[in-house]
Amino acid sequence: MDKCLSVPQGQFQLQRLPFLRNDTLQAWDAADEYLLNHLAEQAILKPDSRLLIVNDSFGALACGLSAYQPTVLSDSWLSHQATRINFQVNQLDLNELNLLDSLTLPATQFDCLLIKVPKTLALLEYQLHQLKPFLHADTQIIAAGMVKNLSANVWKLLEKIWGPTRSSLAVKKARLIFVRPDFSQVLPKNPYPSYFDYPEMGWRIANHANVFSRESLDIGTRFLLQHLPEQAGADIIDLGCGNGIVGMALAKRFPAAKISFVDESYMALASARLNVAQLSPEGVAADFIAANGLSDFAKQSSDCIVCNPPFHQQHSVGDHIAWQMFKQSFQVLRSGGELRVIGNRHLNYHLSLKKIFGNCHQLASNAKFVIFSCRKP
Ligand SMILES: C[S@@+](CC[C@H](N)C(=O)[O-])C[C@H]1O[C@@H](n2cnc3c(N)ncnc32)[C@H](O)[C@@H]1O
Repeated sequence: MDKCLSVPQGQFQLQRLPFLRNDTLQAWDAADEYLLNHLAEQAILKPDSRLLIVNDSFGALACGLSAYQPTVLSDSWLSHQATRINFQVNQLDLNELNLLDSLTLPATQFDCLLIKVPKTLALLEYQLHQLKPFLHADTQIIAAGMVKNLSANVWKLLEKIWGPTRSSLAVKKARLIFVRPDFSQVLPKNPYPSYFDYPEMGWRIANHANVFSRESLDIGTRFLLQHLPEQAGADIIDLGCGNGIVGMALAKRFPAAKISFVDESYMALASARLNVAQLSPEGVAADFIAANGLSDFAKQSSDCIVCNPPFHQQHSVGDHIAWQMFKQSFQVLRSGGELRVIGNRHLNYHLSLKKIFGNCHQLASNAKFVIFSCRKP
């Protein structure tokens, strides 16, 4: 698999995160190449252009355009970290890079804004609202994506919130959408964060735009909530916490424990923070960690880990992140500690769990999901 992106801006060695030996996927797509080629052919950027890049997957755009000292905005800790690593690998100056998480507002307006269309339309909608004040009448805006990911709703949102669009021809199944900012429209209200009720506990759950199962409680999560551990020890982790509802239920059940909420999405962590605040006016012992799973945890530092693993990363599907989370959990659990996992039946998580832990018990199942418990020997 080719790891070297060749574009008019140069040649760049690029890797994805999480790092996988024998990874068959590239760290960029044809839309990145199309965009970089187009920017060079049309000489769109000037040396003093203020450049914003949104939703760059693993830093291909930021590396290609490092000369313009880009601001790079993303909801993904993994994307930010991959961008830092790819800057270093290509001997680019990290001081030229300004990384912003998806809930932080930029400090300036931009002359050029490049946006990769994200998988979640709600995230796109949020970003169009969030960034409109940072456009001016002459801002050059280019949205890019693979044709299969560009539904009619992408155009509708761009036109409703930013302004009229014009499309390029498709090249290698990728397309560019050019947007002219229009400030005469009355902007609809930014609908995020949105909320749903969880009446069983009397909670109102806040969800920022990019959060898993943002509109209602996921049926798998509901099943997991019915089968949480009865005993857990002092240090508990909600791994891949999303809006934090699983960790909140654990905090309620084990008030003396400390709960660590871990996710790679900044919006997930911000939602979990908002939600945990409603548990008790005095606050609960909790921390909120943006990371690649448990990579920042010390070995043997936790008594119980509960996880509803992700089954896709951006536009690609796979169980590699789940597998990584299981291996990390084995390292981070103390002897006797428990990993509790929910998965779709067809994913066969018990095979990998048994391989890693040497044991794996099925605690519950229904037509769609299975819940497993593994103990660190
Ligand atoms: C299936 S969702 C579960 C969310 C929540 N626990 C629930 O049950 O509603 C999986 C979560 O894992 C997060 N995630 C994906 N890759 C991750 C990684 N490498 N490290 C940490 N979290 C990750 C996603 O952002 C997502 O919030």
